[in-house]
Order: sequence, then C-alpha cells, then structure tokens
Amino acid sequence: MAINFSISRWLDSVVSDQWAREGRALDALGEDLPELILSSAPLAEVHRLDLALFVVFEEASLRVSGALTRLAPSVDALNFSAQQTLDEARHHEVFRRRLDLASAACGQGLAASTEAILIPPLRSFIQRCYEVADGGSFIDGMVLTNLVLEGMAHPLYSYEERYWKPVDPYLARLVRGAFIDETRHVAFGADVVRTLLLDDPARRAKAAALCAEARLAMREVFSFYVREFVGLFDSVARLHPEVFADAEMAPGRLITATPYEEQVAMIHASIDKEHARLIARAGLD
Ligand SMILES: [Fe+2]
Ligand SMILES: [Fe+2]
Repeated sequence: MAINFSISRWLDSVVSDQWAREGRALDALGEDLPELILSSAPLAEVHRLDLALFVVFEEASLRVSGALTRLAPSVDALNFSAQQTLDEARHHEVFRRRLDLASAACGQGLAASTEAILIPPLRSFIQRCYEVADGGSFIDGMVLTNLVLEGMAHPLYSYEERYWKPVDPYLARLVRGAFIDETRHVAFGADVVRTLLLDDPARRAKAAALCAEARLAMREVFSFYVREFVGLFDSVARLHPEVFADAEMAPGRLITATPYEEQVAMIHASIDKEHARLIARAGLD
C-alpha cells in the first residue's frame, strides 16, 4: 500500500497521537536526574557522553533534512523532508535538554561534552552529508543521511533503551520515542528513494555505489562507538551490580550474563541485518 506522506496525516498520527502519548509518559516520570546518576561519577560520565552522541546525530539529521526540503523533486519528498525536519528538531531539543541537565550536574559545558565524543571519522561523515545537501543532490543527501547515518544508527536505539531503563527511565523513554520516529524515517526514506529511482537504472547504480561506500565509512564509526559504550556500560554494571541485576541488553539476555565481545557482536549483527533489509527496500542492493 502506498505511504501517505501528507502533512495532515503526520499531524494526526505523530504529533497529536504519538507525541502526546509520549509527553504524558515523560511527565509521569519527571525529568529530574536520578539520584544514582548524581551520586556515581562513572555512571554520570557514560550518561553525559551518550547524550552528547545523541545530540550530535540529531543535529546532523535536522540540518540535512531541513536542507533537503529545498531540493525535494516531488510533493511526497517535500512533505517527507518537512516532517522529518520537525521530528529531528524535536529529538535534538529533548536530548539537548537532558544533556544540558547532565552537563550542568558534572560542572561541564555542553560543548565540552559533544567535543569529547565526536571522533574524526564521524565529524568527516557529517561534514560530507552537509556538503552533499548543500551541493544540490536530494537523492545523495537521502542516501547518506536516511539510509546510512540513520539506517545504521537506528537499530542501536533499542539497545540504548534497554541499557538505560534501570538507570534513567526518562532517557529510556526519550530513546524509545525517537526510535519510533527513526524507524519511520528510514522506512519512508527508503520508499522515497526507490520511487524516485524507479525509471533511472543508471542513477540507481550510482546511488547504490554511494550507499555501499558510505556504509563502509560508517561501519568504522559504529565499530568505535559500540565498543566504547558497551565497554563503559560493562564497567558501570560491575560497579553497580544491584542496579543492573535484571537489565537485559537484548530480549532474554541479561547484560551481566553476556560477555563483552558477545554484546558487541550481537549489536553489529542487528545493524547488519536491519541495514540489509533497508537497502533492499530502497532498491539499492
Ligand atoms: Fe532523529
Ligand atoms: Fe531521523
């Protein structure tokens, strides 16, 4: 069935329904930082760095999707970029607000937190997304941002939600809300790309080559961050065994009972599986 990209559908199903429900759940939890984070410096550090990484990703998606409204070649593509821009602006705001709280509690500025987490390969990838969007290619901008940057990042959100649930349920809920939107961005994005390339096999081959090459670059980025964060979680879980006693990293898999290397391998397997499915959906496999 064809996707309904209209702004009125987005307002009804996302803004009025989904976001209102998430807002009530977040209000019930309250945004104060949990005592556990305020009292554990190592936990506070992982929390702050992870939030900073969310802010970096959301800001990049926001700036690219906003730029793509200028280039969208069809009404569906235009509406989709406009919706995504607002979705990303909201994600950026909610994660940034929590990062502000977390940075202030550690006596750090927000910029110091994002600087500390942004590795050079991710900085260059984001720079490339901006250049492509500014350079005028809607398809290439979608390939780099929706299909590669978000397409490879979004399977991680479900892990993030489970890791944070016992420590910061408010953040776990923010991640879950963003995950629902990201799932839509990658699926709808794949559909937009497939439709635009339907009658142009030469252009499709070019987009497929860009996608394959960008995927390799992002694999290096995720390889670093997955190792880094699983390692950090592993050490804080050992420092606070009572908190992580029942925490799962995947359904039915306790963090404390899953060796570090196995957690890393499971996360990479999820990224590969979800990404392959997405690329097939976009017709770029
Ligand atoms: Fe987002
Ligand atoms: Fe997104």
